[in-house]
Amino acid sequence: MNIAFWQVLEKYKPSQQLSKKEIVLLLNANVGSESQALFALADQVRQQYHGPAVHLRGIIEFSNYCKNDCCYCGLRCSNQNIERYRLLASEVVAAAHQVIMMGFNTIVLQSGEDPWYDAATICEILLQIKRDSNVAITLSIGERTKEEYRLMYQAGADRFLLKHETADQQLFNKLRPGTSFEKRLICLQSLRAVGFQVGSGNMVGLPGQTVATLAADILLLKQLDVEMAGIGPFIPHPQTPLAQVPPGDLQLTLKTLAVARLALPLAHLPATTAAATLHPQGRQMALACGANVIMPNVTPLKFRKLYQIYPGKAGSTENPLESLNKTRDLIRVTGREIATGRGDSLKKYFR
Ligand code: 5AD
Ligand code: SF4
Repeated sequence: MNIAFWQVLEKYKPSQQLSKKEIVLLLNANVGSESQALFALADQVRQQYHGPAVHLRGIIEFSNYCKNDCCYCGLRCSNQNIERYRLLASEVVAAAHQVIMMGFNTIVLQSGEDPWYDAATICEILLQIKRDSNVAITLSIGERTKEEYRLMYQAGADRFLLKHETADQQLFNKLRPGTSFEKRLICLQSLRAVGFQVGSGNMVGLPGQTVATLAADILLLKQLDVEMAGIGPFIPHPQTPLAQVPPGDLQLTLKTLAVARLALPLAHLPATTAAATLHPQGRQMALACGANVIMPNVTPLKFRKLYQIYPGKAGSTENPLESLNKTRDLIRVTGREIATGRGDSLKKYFR
């Protein structure tokens, strides 16, 4: 028996920070009783802070153009083999209105890093959506200047999702040529300073990553005090330099999610689409080990198959209503409930 593992689980308190050594011990949980106990504790902590409610965030992928060349991503600029699309500002607003009509309280506007949308255009989209709705808006559009972030916040964006991708600085710089880990952290600090609720996160299963790297990922999320953390498996895309790398391990992804829940009791943790892509029950499994958010894809059908960050992305052939209905069914089957509010930061209630 791995006594050290059980000792960490037994003395766990949500208010006490886990050390790197403890996190590594937890991440090394074996596939049997250890993982089960870890998942059960994460589920209990999720229940204690978030209850049974699952927040739905409707994600609109409005452009698959990207100026970056990340080695893991199908949208990388050197992938000549995909059809690129951009929604006009008016089309993004129209799509957002439909998503609001469907009952979503949060909309996520996501794109590659596409400078075609300057800050003024993004602000125009935000102002128009916010003109007649109190919907929460999350932007996921990559790195911009602090001044641009400020303008977007002032125009009505509530949250910003910028994954740190990996806390291994060398790995980050290698996998994201032309960008840097240092700059990423500066962006995350700027987002915080400007007033955003901040989301970050990482992939599990990148080549060269170790359990110690994943522990560093969790500690970085803690240090950033994120409101949201997206943790999903790496899935190889055939038109990228990482085509031959095996996909991230689902069990390790779930363990990372569970430990993130223990380290960040207040954070919103999505059951990622990548987990659903790796395994048909991936989302349900994630909901059972700490996750409390699902982000159904509500991109208009004709575009979503083109947003191929990785192949076989779950939901690529559904229209927005089908994605929503499937998500509703899934939540019902797992015995959870759909949250009614916007799912803002819980910090104000617990600190
Ligand atoms: N597998 C899994 N996730 C990926 N992402 C990009 N490429 C992949 C991949 N091949 C994730 C990154 C990025 C988000 C848009 O998608 O974490 O932040
Ligand atoms: Fe662009 Fe993001 Fe893909 Fe990198 S991960 S190529 S920044 S869309």
